Amino acid sequence: MDIFVIQGGERLSGTARVSGAKNAVLPLMAASLLADGPVEIVGAPRLRDIDTLGKVLCHMGAEVERTGADGDGRETVRIDPRKIGKPEAPYDLVKTMRASVLVLGPLAARFGRARISLPGGCAIGARPIDQHLKGLELMGARTTLAEGYVEVDAARLRGATIYFDMKTVTGTENLMMAAALARGTTVMKNAAREPEVCDLAKALRAMGADIEGDGTDEIVVRGVASLRGIRHEVIADRIEASTLLLAGAITGGDVTVAGADPGAMDAVLTKLQESGARVDASPGSVRVRREGPIRSINVETSPYPGFPTDVQAQFMAYQCLGDGFGIVRETIFENRFMHVAELRRMGAKIDVSGSAAAVKGVPSLSGAPLMATDLRASASLVLAGLAAKGTTEVLRIYHLDRGYEALEDKLSALGARIARVRE
Ligand code: EPZ
Repeated sequence: MDIFVIQGGERLSGTARVSGAKNAVLPLMAASLLADGPVEIVGAPRLRDIDTLGKVLCHMGAEVERTGADGDGRETVRIDPRKIGKPEAPYDLVKTMRASVLVLGPLAARFGRARISLPGGCAIGARPIDQHLKGLELMGARTTLAEGYVEVDAARLRGATIYFDMKTVTGTENLMMAAALARGTTVMKNAAREPEVCDLAKALRAMGADIEGDGTDEIVVRGVASLRGIRHEVIADRIEASTLLLAGAITGGDVTVAGADPGAMDAVLTKLQESGARVDASPGSVRVRREGPIRSINVETSPYPGFPTDVQAQFMAYQCLGDGFGIVRETIFENRFMHVAELRRMGAKIDVSGSAAAVKGVPSLSGAPLMATDLRASASLVLAGLAAKGTTEVLRIYHLDRGYEALEDKLSALGARIARVRE
């Protein structure tokens, strides 16, 4: 398994280009199941999760190919769903990536049935899919659980009013896709408002769907008879952009992320400014500089447009070098402090009590061998290693490869001393 070896202490500076958003590409790939022609997703990054979902779609009989980079260096994933014969997602693929659950809604809507391995929990929490299933049942589907698989049968889905008990991103996406081909109108209340949900709605409208209200917490979908294939440019990855900007801030550098959408990162940019970093944002570009001390502040994760849970671990690493004392509160997932034990091994002072982590800033961190546990915790350890004194080794970076495209190359281009060592 590959590891990252990082020599800390370099101030990062320069410009890095953000990749397409993993959490937008995955639902867009699932949406291709609804189309009666090929769907092309432009700007899809080279990530393990995207490859895994491609394998799931191939297993069903779809044709999935990746075309080479265009003039802007962007690659395209092309999915042709016309030969799908087996609406099933097997355990050996689903167990490696929960987002496979996103095929449930499209399969039920397009083929009247679906059988997917019930996604297990993962490092950050149990992550049930009860809201996804509740919505499908309200739309007339029968759902059964057998041998670890969830089966959905629906002669023809019909519109319904669905109230989500909590904001769920893939729950909103799954049911928006199911409703697009259902008979009648579906109203989704307490829907998620993430930019990735809006990008999916935009693509579905281009395919011929009748959707409004995306970006608010009430989405209305009027079912249509069929949807056509499209070519769609995916939005930038706001989580990767936030991670790269924090790499600049934690090292006291000056980093610009080209292609980032500051409008989708307001909570993170506001918190960076509150902590003493200087932020300059314009359409398609965000620059962060930090000369003075890192101010210790409080941060609490919440559904969009709040502070994203996917940046919590990275922000905590940054706060470990703060000038005082701050609280990081994680309200979305029940076990998303796996990075804390590793940061402590570098000398961080963090006390966890339930969903809150009290971070007492220290003057410096020291490099150490560290173990990555989940995608965003891994990024947190890389950031800490960039700022630490000495050498840091981050093991099991396959977690990182799930969601970051060539991160070591982007960081090296900004002046970081980081290398991937294949074991
Ligand atoms: C999406 O996961 C993202 N993944 C996650 O990113 C992200 O952390 C999360 O949204 C929150 O923003 C993708 O988009 C592929 P949820 P998702 O359903 O949809 C509970 C990353 O790092 N819940 O919004 O699975 C759930 O347990 C990944 O890229 C239920 O109880 O998250 C959690 O506590 C990690 N029942 C909360 O809601 C349900 O039926 C939010 O989960 C659904 C969710």
